Amino acid sequence: MDLDLFGKTVLVTGGASGIGAGICTVFAREGANILMNYRSRQAEAEAFAQELRQRYGVRVLPVQADITEPEAVEDLFVQARAQFETLDVLVNNAAGNVIFKPFQDYTEEDWHAAQAGICDHVFRMSQHFLRTCLATGREGRIINILSKSAILSSSIHNLTYVANKGALTALTRGMAKEFIPYGVYVNGIVPGYVRTRVHMDNTERTERVKKLLPLHSFAEPEEIGNVAAILASPLFRQMIGSIVDCTGGTLI
Ligand SMILES: NC(=O)c1ccc[n+]([C@@H]2O[C@H](COP(=O)([O-])OP(=O)(O)OC[C@H]3O[C@@H](n4cnc5c(N)ncnc54)[C@H](OP(=O)(O)O)[C@@H]3O)[C@@H](O)[C@H]2O)c1
Repeated sequence: MDLDLFGKTVLVTGGASGIGAGICTVFAREGANILMNYRSRQAEAEAFAQELRQRYGVRVLPVQADITEPEAVEDLFVQARAQFETLDVLVNNAAGNVIFKPFQDYTEEDWHAAQAGICDHVFRMSQHFLRTCLATGREGRIINILSKSAILSSSIHNLTYVANKGALTALTRGMAKEFIPYGVYVNGIVPGYVRTRVHMDNTERTERVKKLLPLHSFAEPEEIGNVAAILASPLFRQMIGSIVDCTGGTLI
């Protein structure tokens, strides 16, 4: 099936590694141009961008920005408008400042840092994206990468992450409803356990978790990318405000 994404422009936050890289790969495969936001490890981001250009013949622009900083996001959108004719899809993928602690040990600073790293930039990025769509009169798609922990509390000592992903889940549905008249359609994806550095750093734990999963394996980042491409496609316009379960049966 042709998803009709050829020539569209997609902005992916945290797009140079993990799930973000899987999303960039799938959109490039579908012929979309990529604005790949990254925060650190510039050489890796540039090398990955070059790999996608060579393999798929699309434009890939890596842009460094720490999206917890409002001015950096402002600059990111200035570059987006200067470099690409259109901006069609925003994938809010990045998350940082995940702080594991028993609830009673969290400080005020922890709470605010987690909110800044996980949640606040989705508001900021989405507002800039919506304003761009309104200014150009073009349709848009926003896809938020959420978490199963907002639905099923599977881990403990992780409540700042749970709370912020919960807020993002509500925000996704709220934005979806409010943005329909503007032609900007919003959905969320709930990944299960995906093979990224978060999980692969601890092999023993990974093997233990795998045995408990219904599919006995972690998802590949590109499997999440495949779902993001569907949600971005004009063919799937009836999907608005969906929170798509991509957990391989973990939430059933
Ligand atoms: N992996 C899973 O199993 C899983 C499950 C459920 C949900 N998720 C969600 O999926 C998303 C991606 O996770 P992942 O596992 O792929 O994580 P990852 O491998 O750590 O990748 C996250 C990417 O986001 C970037 N990033 C973080 N904060 C940023 C900021 N302030 N500005 C710009 N970029 C920033 C990171 O850059 P740096 O390299 O500079 O840190 C990194 O490239 C997250 O929203 C996560 O909560 C993941």
